[in-house]
Amino acid sequence: MDLRRKQVNKGEEPIIAIDGPSGVGKTTVARLVADRLGLKAVSTGALYRAVALYLIQTGVNPNNPLALRVALQNVELDQKYEDGRIRTFLNGEDVTDHLDTVEVSDMASRVAAIPEVREFLLDVQRRLAEGGAVVEGRDIGTVVLPEAQVKVFLDASTGERARRRYEQLRAEGINISYEEALKDVKERDIRDSSREVAPLQRARDAVYIDTTHMSAEEVANRILKLVREIVP
Ligand code: DC
Repeated sequence: MDLRRKQVNKGEEPIIAIDGPSGVGKTTVARLVADRLGLKAVSTGALYRAVALYLIQTGVNPNNPLALRVALQNVELDQKYEDGRIRTFLNGEDVTDHLDTVEVSDMASRVAAIPEVREFLLDVQRRLAEGGAVVEGRDIGTVVLPEAQVKVFLDASTGERARRRYEQLRAEGINISYEEALKDVKERDIRDSSREVAPLQRARDAVYIDTTHMSAEEVANRILKLVREIVP
């Protein structure tokens, strides 16, 4: 792979794309890398979740194309990276603390399969990446920001991803058993990989990292090493 092909010009901030399946630790790693580089971290999953939250709040059925179109016209999303935290805003309101419930996760994975939603979020994601960012998601290196200077695909065993998700949710005060976390990770894997639009896929020029036996710090250091190779 020729990483130099995408050499960053002097003074230009790089875009780092981190893709991978549910529960692999993309957000944690994105924040670590962003902090070390003085860039912002963008979580695109949180944007899908914010759309899901809006549909739940307004009772819109995402399978009704007209209702969905009208709903999306009324959705304004923003994200800010402050003090090491990614905060997501839905129509001006900080909804970060409402995005991790099982109900929102389920709806997010359903709406992520709808082309209109993906199209709508394309512009939002690109706008948030302007000026350099560490962007995590499922199709960042392939569809959203194919011009990213550094692309990585993080992976880990299903059991390890369920364990990470379980610990993350428990730390946030969400009561979930390990079995529920495992079921959730498996179901979302199937939905994310089998959908027709932008299924989870590794970009051909992404560096594959199996993180099963790595700490988040170790993964971040691997990525920072890659960044140093291409950013002058
Ligand atoms: O990473 P996450 O679990 O917060 O993502 C929520 C849902 O959104 C998940 O089902 C996958 C989907 N998603 C996507 O399809 N494309 C992205 N770039 C980010 C998330």
